[in-house]
Amino acid sequence: MTDVRPEMAIGVFDSGVGGLTVLDECLAQLPAEDFIYFGDTEWFPYGDRTEDELRHRAVGISQWLIANDVKTIVIACNTATAAALNYLQTHIEIPVIGVMSSEAHAAVQTTRNRRVGLLATEATVRSGAYERMIHAHDAGVEVTSVACPLLAPAIQSGDPLDARIVEMVREYAAPLRDADVDTVILGCTHYPLIERLLRRSLPNTQLIKSGEELARELGESLGRKGLLRAADREGSYRFACSGDPDAFHLLGTRFLQMPLGHVDRVTISL
Ligand code: DGL
Repeated sequence: MTDVRPEMAIGVFDSGVGGLTVLDECLAQLPAEDFIYFGDTEWFPYGDRTEDELRHRAVGISQWLIANDVKTIVIACNTATAAALNYLQTHIEIPVIGVMSSEAHAAVQTTRNRRVGLLATEATVRSGAYERMIHAHDAGVEVTSVACPLLAPAIQSGDPLDARIVEMVREYAAPLRDADVDTVILGCTHYPLIERLLRRSLPNTQLIKSGEELARELGESLGRKGLLRAADREGSYRFACSGDPDAFHLLGTRFLQMPLGHVDRVTISL
């Protein structure tokens, strides 16, 4: 068994900048921890990948993170969590947590009319993982899922928000309004980056976001394992990606609203 110690960092990965919405919450809730963030921009979008591809890729990324001394791995991507969380947990030796299960639980706790909506990538919707997790908590909740294949690429492109994206969001939100859901899971970590737009198209609904739920779960899990850092320090964070580091730097700085520093380019072998 690989030895993990409190002073080691936490590894976080996503297909691109979406996972920064998770990292952002983790930095706020766990300020003493060190983080290494990997954006798999060369492989973006994960939403078009097969389960098999995502599983092997997740192992490659995790091996790189482990070689960089992390004590736990956070999959800050719904698509990769749906495809690879259990696979990764059985193929690597350190603890791995993903998004999804705490959002599913939060949605069940939040809904009053027991109608929950899901916005996610094609691969996440196809996996049916959210429905299963929601129904594990309340089998009577009606789930309306909408695949949004164009949304994460539009966000990741970094193009200025325009009428096209407003229309796209309206179209994706329409089936959820028709279904009269009162709670919507933003089932892709990219979506909180356009939260304002989503709120306008989904009035009178509670939005459930991966970042807040995940950061809480991560803190609890590290605490119970005795792996939290002492609170008397300010942690560090650093970034790497598989694609163009300058593009990642530009987009990441805009979204994280914090200086990113140097971004390393890393090649992951499958
Ligand atoms: N941010 C990723 C997610 O949470 C997906 C975007 C993509 O690569 O398709 O699902």
